[in-house]
Amino acid sequence: MSKKRVAILISGRGSNMSALIDACKSADYPAEIVGVGSNRAAAPGLKIASSHGLKTFSLAQSQFESREAFDLALTQKLEEWHVDIVCLAGFMRMLTPEFTLHWAGRLINIHPSLLPLYRGLDTHARALADGASVHGCTVHFVTPGLDEGPTILQAQVPVLPGDTPETLAARILVEEHRIYPEALRLLASGALS
Ligand code: GRF
Repeated sequence: MSKKRVAILISGRGSNMSALIDACKSADYPAEIVGVGSNRAAAPGLKIASSHGLKTFSLAQSQFESREAFDLALTQKLEEWHVDIVCLAGFMRMLTPEFTLHWAGRLINIHPSLLPLYRGLDTHARALADGASVHGCTVHFVTPGLDEGPTILQAQVPVLPGDTPETLAARILVEEHRIYPEALRLLASGALS
């Protein structure tokens, strides 16, 4: 079995990236990480990726005259690595339709809510403000609409008395690190379409 070649795009600490890198170290896992890219040169996750011996790049929007030009450069970088699948892991950018359509069916994201609830930012604070009794995370295909693509896997956690956005985020992050590698396994093994 030839492993699918995966790139991860990050903007920050990269804990989901680390979970994917760790999963890919198993001999029977159907994907390998070929590199990590970022829109922030200072993203702490880039150093972690390098420490695993992975190639990295960073691109700044300020280098480009438009969002389309940035996303085209991003696709070119990924094509240089002969990437089969792109995993967004805390990549804090709105992607252009050109980018999402180019990678359609090969581009997935982890979002910290039970989609379609709480698309966008500040999901934990919004769930708490609503008095939600459960909250969670979703791995989904990326389509042009924000956090709108088909769901691959979800995990649910209880909202507990006294929760803050931080305690709730920490409970959900454990689940993110569990379901993201599982979702990538499903995609890379050909179990999804
Ligand atoms: C995670 O909560 C993920 O769901 C969201 O951004 C955060 C990234 O965290 N998309 P990390 O960089 O993977 O630690």
